[in-house]
Amino acid sequence: MVAQIYLKRREWLARNLGQGIAVLPTAPERPRNRDSYFPYRFDSTFYYLTGFEEPEAVLVIVGGNEPQSILFCREKDLDRETWDGLRYGPDAAQMEFGFDAAWPIDLLDQKMAELICQVNSIYTPLGESPEWDSRMMGWINTLRNRSRSGLQAPSMLCDLRQLTDEMRLVKDESEIMLMRKAADISSCAHRRAMSNTWPGRMEFEVGAEIIYEFARQGAQSPAYTSIVAGGKNACILHYIENDARLRAGDLLLIDAGCEYAGYAADITRSFPVNGRFEGAGRAVYEVVLEAQIAAIEAVKPGASFNAPHEAALKILTRGLVDLGLLKGEVDTLIEAGEYRKFYMHRTSHWLGLDVHDVGEYKKGDEWRTLLPNMVLTIEPGLYIRESEDSPSEFWNIGVRIEDDVMVTPGGYDVLTAEAPKSIAEIEALMASHD
Ligand code: GLY
Ligand code: MN
Ligand code: MN
Repeated sequence: MVAQIYLKRREWLARNLGQGIAVLPTAPERPRNRDSYFPYRFDSTFYYLTGFEEPEAVLVIVGGNEPQSILFCREKDLDRETWDGLRYGPDAAQMEFGFDAAWPIDLLDQKMAELICQVNSIYTPLGESPEWDSRMMGWINTLRNRSRSGLQAPSMLCDLRQLTDEMRLVKDESEIMLMRKAADISSCAHRRAMSNTWPGRMEFEVGAEIIYEFARQGAQSPAYTSIVAGGKNACILHYIENDARLRAGDLLLIDAGCEYAGYAADITRSFPVNGRFEGAGRAVYEVVLEAQIAAIEAVKPGASFNAPHEAALKILTRGLVDLGLLKGEVDTLIEAGEYRKFYMHRTSHWLGLDVHDVGEYKKGDEWRTLLPNMVLTIEPGLYIRESEDSPSEFWNIGVRIEDDVMVTPGGYDVLTAEAPKSIAEIEALMASHD
């Protein structure tokens, strides 16, 4: 049943290759030192088209009148399986994952030279790795060297990602189900973090609560390194040291999401270490929350990808003026990019198998149009560093609020709505665990 989803994706791709062939390796294993490896993670597009999680595998899809999909994978090896676990081997992989053929990975060079002489173009992720590019050129040169036997090398190399990135951008029902699960687990992890934060704890202790909840609910790993940033650390956008002590009166910014069955969630919450929003921190939080809600409201089919960003900018800039951090007309300040001093990133990115998922953001010069079943983040923030130009009560406050939002036929669905973000909800949750 599951194989059907992958089969359909491969069939769609085959229909769109013309007389071409697609060749896609999965990710390599990365040694850490001697006999240790970094945890293995398959290539996202390879997985999207196969569901096959083993390393040392290549997918080949032949287009044209007799489309075929072929897997190259490791052979069975009972000795290695004793140490490292099951390998499907070509025969079982073919059956289980619905390929037309499956062959040992050691035959890749020989078989590819045969397969590519029947096609006019090769689709592959060009330029992703020099080793892969040169291996492919090796097959082409093998054919060229045999041209006197009447063999012809394909004349076009195309970037496979043009096709697969667009496929991955609009999610199907099975993907939405997995993304909901990743979002649910990650929302629980943020709730757990809120319930387990108090002055004197270390950032990494709260980070451990997050990882614990991910693992407890069966997520395979975090989708990216968690940011657990107390006080002024929240103004470092990619802060991952997570080794400072949390202080009463500071806010804590946590950006963390799990990966579930390959799919990422990406949530940020900012909340007070002592459980009560007060003073300047509360004022900044209110602005960011209003901007985030307005940005979410801008998500609907037919809207521009940039509409949520524009909605957020209006409210953030007006808020910066109201707080005395910027001076002037809101529209002029936006035009001149003055807000960038306090808001230096964009509001959204695509989300899916990768946390910054594939898919173009523009078509030519135009931001692309949102369609049902696209999933994007909405993540405005304000980061106020020490500066003579800013009132000192705002120094070192960093706030970001990030949700994962699916475009629906009628508007939007916030997948991460279970992670509290209103002041009342957060304060109530933190108070109940004193
Ligand atoms: N966690 C990465 C991001 O928010 O884009
Ligand atoms: Mn994000
Ligand atoms: Mn994030």
